[in-house]
Amino acid sequence: MPSPSVSAPGVRQKTFCFRCIGCANLTETAQQDFRCAQCRDLLEIVYPAWKEGKLGPETLKSAWQARRLSSKPEDLSGVWRFRDLLPLVEPEQVISLREGNTPLYELSQCARIAGVPRLFAKHQGMNPTGSFKDTGMTVAATFAQRAGFKWVACASTGNTSASMAAYAARGGMRSLVLVPEGKISWSKLSQALDYGAVTCQLRTDFDGCLRLLQELVLRAPVYQLNSINPFRLEGQKTLAFELLEQMDWNPPDHIIVPGGNLGNSSAIGKALVEMRDLGLILRLPKLSVIQADGANALVRTIRETAGKKLVSVAPETRATAIRIGNPASWKKAAHVIEATGGACEQVSEVEIAQAKAEIGAEGIGCEPASAVTLAGLKKLVELGFVKPRETVVLVLTGNLLKDPDYTIEFHRGELMAEGDGARSLVPLRHAPIVLDATLDAVMRTLERNEKS
Ligand code: F0G
Repeated sequence: MPSPSVSAPGVRQKTFCFRCIGCANLTETAQQDFRCAQCRDLLEIVYPAWKEGKLGPETLKSAWQARRLSSKPEDLSGVWRFRDLLPLVEPEQVISLREGNTPLYELSQCARIAGVPRLFAKHQGMNPTGSFKDTGMTVAATFAQRAGFKWVACASTGNTSASMAAYAARGGMRSLVLVPEGKISWSKLSQALDYGAVTCQLRTDFDGCLRLLQELVLRAPVYQLNSINPFRLEGQKTLAFELLEQMDWNPPDHIIVPGGNLGNSSAIGKALVEMRDLGLILRLPKLSVIQADGANALVRTIRETAGKKLVSVAPETRATAIRIGNPASWKKAAHVIEATGGACEQVSEVEIAQAKAEIGAEGIGCEPASAVTLAGLKKLVELGFVKPRETVVLVLTGNLLKDPDYTIEFHRGELMAEGDGARSLVPLRHAPIVLDATLDAVMRTLERNEKS
């Protein structure tokens, strides 16, 4: 079967083109594996027309502000509100679930714990399917449909599949999900099922699923919606636009993100550089990426090869969203860390569990993969990389409800063995208490807890 091209009828192609991140080759169309036909490296989307300098920063800012008062569907989306910096489509083509528009919360207790004066959480878990994936999916699913595809597909640790299945369903497309058997949370799996995806649990890990998908998309007319797809990253860029707007265009000193397949860090970094180049911000925040120490491919790649050659690892972490050993966008991520002067660190399972409970204790809550950001911040403060006067934003990528098993096991003390530093977690636990249904039993529990 011939592999379909992603150029689409009705799309105003001239507004953007694909550029290879390796050899800088420019093309107007891309094949389904989204790799350069010459050197096989990944593609990114660029906008040659921006060079003409017509996009004044003040004009953009006021257009985005004005759209907040509009009730048009394309303005109600926190992604398409920033469409001036995205590949253009006609408004009626957009598949949207009103993604984006996520809150920026101040975390004052976590700030004290980490030792910084101001700490914020940009909570992408407040998106329609509960993770940051929705911001990229609205763009990529829209382009899949415009290109005439009936099927979309992804490999996933859970959140991508939940998001893809939802957007495919909204756009009237079928979806095929490849997930590692037994290694994704039931919540995420159940979302894909409810949104009607054909869901395959493969006896492999995420990297095995992604390898298979890459072969599949070259053989069958299915549109791949992993973050190798550069349209996904364009949508995910809007997190940074929205964040800076929420901060009145005063950049924080640091933005900290979890790293898995490394699409999100790449997207946020791309947005920061674009904003600087367009004059929307005058200085770049440092973008730092944090991984679990059992899935630390980027950390090792930067430490052992100065970011030049991927060091793959056999991944193991209870933060299953980032249980990835062979991240596809490692080169893009290494580049944005360097371009912004950021850092790349790893944190242990105990540190992740502790950070997740500390974020939860502020009434916010997130999934374990998101909590690596706070754990990583503590480490970056200790190392002196984040200075005591600096403002920091953590990107919380997924909702607490995405992985309830983890949270329940944590509070019951079943998540990990007592050794390995897990003793420090005991004061953070709040196990459920089983009681006889009497007033006396409940009163005594209340009294006991008042004393503690
Ligand atoms: N946080 C959460 C909650 C995630 O689901 C993911 C990735 C990441 C962080 C890492 O982001 O891959 O862009 O570096 N989840 C993917 C998935 C791999 O299939 O849902 P990344």
